[in-house]
Amino acid sequence: MNFNWLRRPRRNRSSSQVRDLIQETSLSTCDLIYPVFVKADIDQPEPIPSMPGIFRHSLDSLIQECKEIATLGIPAIALFPVIDPAHKTAEAEYALNPDQILFQALKRLKKELPELLLIADVALDPYTSHGHDGILNAKGEVDNDATVALLQRLATVEAQAGADWVAPSDMMDGRIEAIRIALDNANLTETSILAYSAKFASAYYGPFREAVGSRAKSSSDYLDKKSYQLNPANRREALLECQLDEKEGADILMVKPAGPYLDIIRELRNQTLLPIAAYQVSGEYTQIHAAAQNGWLDLEKTREESLLAIKRAGADMILTYFAKEIAQKLNRQPLI
Ligand code: PBG
Repeated sequence: MNFNWLRRPRRNRSSSQVRDLIQETSLSTCDLIYPVFVKADIDQPEPIPSMPGIFRHSLDSLIQECKEIATLGIPAIALFPVIDPAHKTAEAEYALNPDQILFQALKRLKKELPELLLIADVALDPYTSHGHDGILNAKGEVDNDATVALLQRLATVEAQAGADWVAPSDMMDGRIEAIRIALDNANLTETSILAYSAKFASAYYGPFREAVGSRAKSSSDYLDKKSYQLNPANRREALLECQLDEKEGADILMVKPAGPYLDIIRELRNQTLLPIAAYQVSGEYTQIHAAAQNGWLDLEKTREESLLAIKRAGADMILTYFAKEIAQKLNRQPLI
């Protein structure tokens, strides 16, 4: 029995060769940025319980890990320091200590792996005793401009230590312009700014906060960053933040988290000519692993679908904890 349908869309899905030719978006190793954690004074990498396969690295194990990353063809890492609570203060002074682990790591990586692009986060949460991304005023609120002044200095020292891109993740007003000016004044005109432009006050950051130890005092309390991070309900406000960062001189705009915010990525893609990064955050990684551990989801298929969806939405590059395993898999696949 045959109807004479004029259009039979299934013809375009009829074999793997046809499907390959039809495929609109693809994922490749060169789209990926690997977030890595580094901690001072440890001998062995420390596993992070809620993030299977991810470690807090010592300086030496970080170098080893990054050699592997570079060999796999991953173009960049995003570096996050894990700071000893003894060094954390309300005013985050330790952030600018020239001996702190982030600067040490940047210097060594730049020297030993000059071809690997280094992205340094610009925010104070690793260094504050209260866990906020900025310092507080007398009323206990995050003080925007006092924080921006510190971020200017942090970004400058990061760039001087070897960061190719600095990535402000704090969501303070005016910080992109302020950091651009500070970098240019220090003759760091080649350093790019990857702006966390649309960063939402998300529950998906939980495992990351455990990894860097920036949780609220009581572990059941999730630190409230709603006075600076975006309300998950707001699309226009997110796009406005992106517009401002573009005007202030950002080189690349970021949306974070990625999976639950694909509409923002797509709408931003339609509005800006700048490159777009998306951060598939710790909780997005964790939920796929947790379901896979229970046998409820297929790890590899879900992982690849989640990343492909982020590309399809319009992201040019993705920060993802899956970067290494994806690169290992893609590199293993024969071309013919
Ligand atoms: C803080 C920062 C966070 C992440 C990156 N930088 C957490 C937060 O805002 O509380 C989250 C990344 C992740 O969850 O993987 N400056």
